[in-house]
Amino acid sequence: MQRNHDRLVHLRIGGRNQYLVLRPEDVKHVMQENHRNYGRSPAFEILKIFLGNGLLTSDGDFWRRQRRLAQPAFHRQRLAALTTTMIAETASWIAELKQHNTQQPVNISQAFMDVTMRIVCKTLFGSDTTGKLDGLSTALDTLNYLANKKMLSPIRFPYSWPTPDNIRSKRARAQVDSFIYGVIDQRRQQHQDKDDLLGMLLSAEDEDTGEKMSDQQLRDECVTIFSAGHETTAVSMAWTVYLLSKHPDVLARLQTESRAVLGDVTTPPPDAFRSLTYTLQVVQESLRLYPPAWVLSRRAHHPDHIGPYTIPAGDTALISPYLLHRDPANWPDPDRFDPDRFAPGGPKDQLHSYAYLPFGGGPRLCIGNQFTLMEMQILLAMLVRSFELKPVPKQRITPKPLITLRPNQAIRINLL
Ligand code: HEM
Repeated sequence: MQRNHDRLVHLRIGGRNQYLVLRPEDVKHVMQENHRNYGRSPAFEILKIFLGNGLLTSDGDFWRRQRRLAQPAFHRQRLAALTTTMIAETASWIAELKQHNTQQPVNISQAFMDVTMRIVCKTLFGSDTTGKLDGLSTALDTLNYLANKKMLSPIRFPYSWPTPDNIRSKRARAQVDSFIYGVIDQRRQQHQDKDDLLGMLLSAEDEDTGEKMSDQQLRDECVTIFSAGHETTAVSMAWTVYLLSKHPDVLARLQTESRAVLGDVTTPPPDAFRSLTYTLQVVQESLRLYPPAWVLSRRAHHPDHIGPYTIPAGDTALISPYLLHRDPANWPDPDRFDPDRFAPGGPKDQLHSYAYLPFGGGPRLCIGNQFTLMEMQILLAMLVRSFELKPVPKQRITPKPLITLRPNQAIRINLL
């Protein structure tokens, strides 16, 4: 490893040259100012087998067109319809948690996987999942799990080989595809206009050409949204609960806010969640300490200059939200959990915009960022309004940097 002062770190990983970009202004250069010089790194080729050519894996003009088509579906105003679904799903999840024996800790990591899965499936496909949610979510989860496994594995057999994982993955893929194509077909035939994400993607039209997405593109975007949006949110929620269990003062303030704003109505109105300012600060601070997308990568098309240093063509630039978020140059006492950093007009507002990037930055900023913040606020506020959170003694939780930054073991919590 060779360190170029405090701007770049040169690493050799898997026989490739990679350059970790350390300063926020240099990160901005790579992700925004000179973004056209960069494309997807080779790791995304593996994901393509599973996700197809969706927003996460595509590049260049194809990506630009897809992004333009998909963007309106995630617009703030369109999110209102999705928020109602999130609240309803969270309310039934809370009701299930209340059935749990209070003497036993809850595996909250798994509980968040379940509820975020339900939310993403329902916001994508609405009532078309009725009676099919379990089968669909299991198949999507299998596909996602095997894609991640293949990305992390040092030995990768071709997808055409009949290995047990390839067979499982093809079966799951067939099930997912048959569901999605079936729904698309039905909606096209009946000219149904629904306000779930699929409905919005179906009606999206290119402003210049009037073109719409093909069935295959719709399928790829649906699987991509599922894959990008489900585990990241679940993992982040588990970290948030873990942090709260260690900081009863923050939890108490959060509970006061959610009880005052939401009252005890089972399904509060969507607008109420916009007033949960402290809840949002807690979510943002949790994403600072444990950003699920802890490292991002870009491959340089041409040599790029970072001050006196060069990232050669074909090599990879690495950006680590985890390191940026814990750099004491930007965040005093960086390991301390302090949601007041994100208070309106507080310390965060004085920082370089690329010192905090849980959702990335530049044109490839996470398309689901507003969706996520809303979902996390709803889950958190409705959970702490209903329960006391007590830590399980002697749980030693440390971060495990896989594709997402997961806890090293499932987080368990006493919900009283
Ligand atoms: C805590 C939750 C989430 C985190 C931390 C997160 C983080 C990110 C990051 C860092 C990127 C940029 C990757 C890069 O620059 O290489 C990204 C892209 C993306 N995210 Fe998210 N995400 C989250 C939730 C979601 C959700 C809920 C959705 C969908 C509903 C979503 C959909 C996407 C898509 C489609 C992209 C690709 C965008 C593009 O390249 O045009 N994400 N996400």
